[in-house]
Amino acid sequence: MNKIYLDNNATTAVKEEVLDAMLPYFREQFGNPSSVHWAGRMVSSAIEKAREQVAELLNCSPAEVIFLSCGSEGDNYAIKGTAEALKHKGNHIITTAVEHPAVLETCEALEKDGFEVTYLGVDRDGMLDLKELEAAITPQTILISVMWANNETGNIFPISEIGAIAKKHRVRFHTDAVQAAGKIPVDVRAANVDMAVISGHKIGAPKGVGAMYLKRGTKINRFMHGGHQERNRRAGTHNVAGIVGLGVACELALRDLDSNYAYVRQLRDKLEQGILETIPEVKLNGHPDADLRLPNTLNVSFNYIEGESLLLFFDMKGIAASSGSACTSGSLEPSHVMGAMGVDIVLAHSSTRFSLGPDNTEEEIDYVLNELPPIVQRLREMSPLYNREEPTPLSCDECRMVHRA
Ligand SMILES: Cc1ncc(COP(=O)(O)O)c(C=O)c1O
Repeated sequence: MNKIYLDNNATTAVKEEVLDAMLPYFREQFGNPSSVHWAGRMVSSAIEKAREQVAELLNCSPAEVIFLSCGSEGDNYAIKGTAEALKHKGNHIITTAVEHPAVLETCEALEKDGFEVTYLGVDRDGMLDLKELEAAITPQTILISVMWANNETGNIFPISEIGAIAKKHRVRFHTDAVQAAGKIPVDVRAANVDMAVISGHKIGAPKGVGAMYLKRGTKINRFMHGGHQERNRRAGTHNVAGIVGLGVACELALRDLDSNYAYVRQLRDKLEQGILETIPEVKLNGHPDADLRLPNTLNVSFNYIEGESLLLFFDMKGIAASSGSACTSGSLEPSHVMGAMGVDIVLAHSSTRFSLGPDNTEEEIDYVLNELPPIVQRLREMSPLYNREEPTPLSCDECRMVHRA
């Protein structure tokens, strides 16, 4: 059976060069980087090299990079650490209704501790209104947290413009760059970002490692207590091999950024056009201007079909894609991102994400385009919703501009 992996926003395979670089750190160079002896010194220099590689990708100084266990840890650290450090200045946070749960649930937890959070809505294309964002800033606002690119739709948010607004109002700005890093340029300096988070397993490094950019001089409360690693900012013995792998993955991502963008985008565009042209009643979820989406991501709804059934049928043909975000699959709730975009409930349930990577080939896309129409047709014929007149609209008032005071 063909095995076609189109779920790279969920996770990626570890790149060969990354694995090769990591292997010595499991056995020959197994030291603890905090040890002063030779075994420790050997690995601490590898960590510093990785720090430089991450800093190059993000355009910051190596001293501004903190290694962590994953993207979720980074988002938690940035938001909770800021809330704790700046609570004497204010208690208001602005974020969006389409963030990853690592941001949304962290904000919800802070609400229970007395913080107020504004969850900005998005339009039908999944985009933010920056006037709404600026109008939401109050003297109590201590943090704006907006993702660089959305994991479900691939929409790219105007991070430089948001950075300029945050700077003008002297509000700290955090961005979850987990999906953007390695796929499009992520220049934290040019965008006036104070904190940015990336995750290794989305860019060809292993699971269990991530990094945060913390702009020099940004005060933040410690999230992990214990050892004095990462200049006292993140306790815990380093995941040396993972960090080395993350460094190499960042170096490769930067080296191949333009060529990967062009290659993956033409495959994605071919898949997108093929689906939209050959299958009736398909809705594109995300911005119609492909320049405003990540080059690898396509999210579409096949009307009348439950996304999970589609995935099962795809799986039988060897095609791996996802419905909603990987982290929420297992729940039958429609995705919060589709809800915030006002996608009706039937279409929201049928939303399917294809996320490509540089290892995909044109033949694979041809295979998918060949297999998809009969699967969709068959499932539609089995669907009780097929031929029904009006789909039930999704009540998404609560997903629009909500101020949970
Ligand atoms: C936008 C976004 N942020 C954060 C995360 C969490 O990253 P990690 O899996 O490294 O915790 C993900 C993972 O899907 C993501 O897509």
